Amino acid sequence: MSENGQPPNSEKYPQHVAIIMDGNGRWAKRRGLPRLAGHKAGTDNLRKIIKACVEFGVKYLTIYAFSTENWGRPKEEVDGLMRILEDVIERELSELKEQGVQIRHLGCLDQLAGSVQRKVLNAVEQTKENSTLILNVAFNYGGRDEIIHAVKKMLGDHITADAVTHELMSEYLYTAGSPDPDLIIRTSGELRISNFLIWQAAYSEWYVTETYWPDFGREEFKKALDEYAQRDRRFGKVESSEYTGVND
Ligand code: IPE
Ligand code: IPE
Ligand code: MG
Repeated sequence: MSENGQPPNSEKYPQHVAIIMDGNGRWAKRRGLPRLAGHKAGTDNLRKIIKACVEFGVKYLTIYAFSTENWGRPKEEVDGLMRILEDVIERELSELKEQGVQIRHLGCLDQLAGSVQRKVLNAVEQTKENSTLILNVAFNYGGRDEIIHAVKKMLGDHITADAVTHELMSEYLYTAGSPDPDLIIRTSGELRISNFLIWQAAYSEWYVTETYWPDFGREEFKKALDEYAQRDRRFGKVESSEYTGVND
């Protein structure tokens, strides 16, 4: 630990971490439990990771909780996931407020039940002045839907072709106001993006672990941040020092 109580390389920690919280079903199956027990265990783990973000000075955390493709799961599981979202908001909102967490929602609320919509909107409203950690909750989120939504909104606003820039596009996405993620973590070992932040991930660093999401605790999270701190982000460029060699 350094003098400020932070790990030695914490000044190189990411500002924005996004997580594909995957592997709840396999975690449950391994224990002979129903899949929903895995999702519940996943929400318990999320509480730990939010705390760890506050501890390590991560400013933005984006979590993939329900994708536009997840509607294709059995009704029982979809209904269970909706209930879990409602329960989590109900149970955790006051503590999140105390921790200074600002909740934002990424995705389309329209297809969700009225009671879920109201709870999400209430959580967003009640935490809007907080700034310790911005928590983007991607629920009924899909990257392709997000881009189509943005394009339609631009057309509705009569944006001209000349005005369309990378920056403007970013302002029209659900993530407006959040920088692009520096680090994307995917648990449970799958090597795919699964329609998550497909615009914003253009230059994100990736960290994939075999660990299932309910077991991905503070220590593993710190390991991911430490590994990120060692990465050399080049953004397609080369270091100027590379040009001092004999072959220039
Ligand atoms: C991730 O866990 C949570 C959601 C997609 C809602 P999964 O439910 O995908 O778990 P696995 O991949 O089947 O193990
Ligand atoms: C991605 O996980 C979505 C969430 C974590 C919410 P999935 O389990 O749905 O993704 P695939 O089906 O393995 O690509
Ligand atoms: Mg999965």
